[in-house]
Amino acid sequence: MPDATILGIETSCDETGAAVVRSGQEILSNVVASQIATHQPYGGVVPELASREHLRAIVPVVRQALAEAKRTYESLDAVAVTQGPGLAGALLVGISFAKALAFALEKPLIAVNHIEGHIHAVLLERSRSENNDLQFPVLALVVSGGHTHLYLARQEGNSWTYQNIGHTRDDAAGEAFDKVAKLLGLGYPGGPIVDWLAPHGNSSEVNFPASQLKHRDRNRPQKDDQPRFDFSYSGIKTAVLRYVETHNLGSAIETRRRALAEIKEPKVEDYLRFCDRPVLDLVASFQRSMVEDLIAKTLAAAEQYDVRTLFVSGGVAANRELRETFERAAAMRGVPVFFPSRSLSTDNAAMIAAAAFPKLLTQDFLPADFSAEAGLRLG
Ligand code: KG4
Ligand code: ZN
Repeated sequence: MPDATILGIETSCDETGAAVVRSGQEILSNVVASQIATHQPYGGVVPELASREHLRAIVPVVRQALAEAKRTYESLDAVAVTQGPGLAGALLVGISFAKALAFALEKPLIAVNHIEGHIHAVLLERSRSENNDLQFPVLALVVSGGHTHLYLARQEGNSWTYQNIGHTRDDAAGEAFDKVAKLLGLGYPGGPIVDWLAPHGNSSEVNFPASQLKHRDRNRPQKDDQPRFDFSYSGIKTAVLRYVETHNLGSAIETRRRALAEIKEPKVEDYLRFCDRPVLDLVASFQRSMVEDLIAKTLAAAEQYDVRTLFVSGGVAANRELRETFERAAAMRGVPVFFPSRSLSTDNAAMIAAAAFPKLLTQDFLPADFSAEAGLRLG
């Protein structure tokens, strides 16, 4: 089984993904059909439209994944699918398809937690020996549109176990990027746009005091008296809104929103054309505050729990300032930090197949009647 080949299927949100992965780390194919164009006019993901688009895309996406991997259905060792967390209707499309396929092929079906998938994305594109040499415990920051979570991850034999030591109390980090971009008339999804624009502004121009990122009892002990490292990002979003109001940026935002809505797929130059200095400075300062808070809490947790390795994954891990600053800060502490490549940071099915591999080795399968779990937890 060490060379097992798994077909992964991912439909938890707005990307339909299918991928073929060998040994939990070697990508033979990874196909992602994005629904951004469908949801863009609404400024966010519309659940009913997401389910409909998954239904349309799932068969061609899976066929393409097998064709690119040069594999037949019969040659697969298992099928893996995201069970949750995510949009219930969207998850059900992937789960129903995967169940039917596994049943017809008489192959094992492996249910995977989407968050565990993001963590295992770090192992993709690395060699077997690099992964065998990983030092545990690993502290994994999963930072995406729906999650800002810190997990202590350990490996016992072929099984991975997780302990949550922090999560967001309100908005996830990616949600804050998306809401702030929307608030500034920049469109959806906001993370990549903010990432492109931030280097063009002055990040010291607007000061978001740390108190706006904190909340009363963020270090409250857990049941077992272990300290927690929770996040909170609704305060910074409100601070941006207040800044917009007090600096009368409203009409410029409306003009920008309308102008960008006219362009089918705006490029960085288009955004820059419609952004004046105050907005670029605001975007740069917002990103700097987010990056500093994510890194400060993760490193504080790393010290408290004496971790040996850091993983940073999820859509926001594609952010260039976050990656560069994290690498510098972690190097100063002497803890190695690993990210998935930028394209594997956002949702994809290769990470689902990767997380399924240890479950195949340990025969960790759910009963055949499992269903979608919109609020599924990890650990
Ligand atoms: O992991 P993901 O694809 O889906 C979820 O599981 O939520 O993450 C999507 C989130 C969105 O909020 C998006 O704006 C954010 O990741 N994102 C980024 C970047 N690329 C995607 N945030 C900051 N910088 C980026 N380059
Ligand atoms: Zn995700």
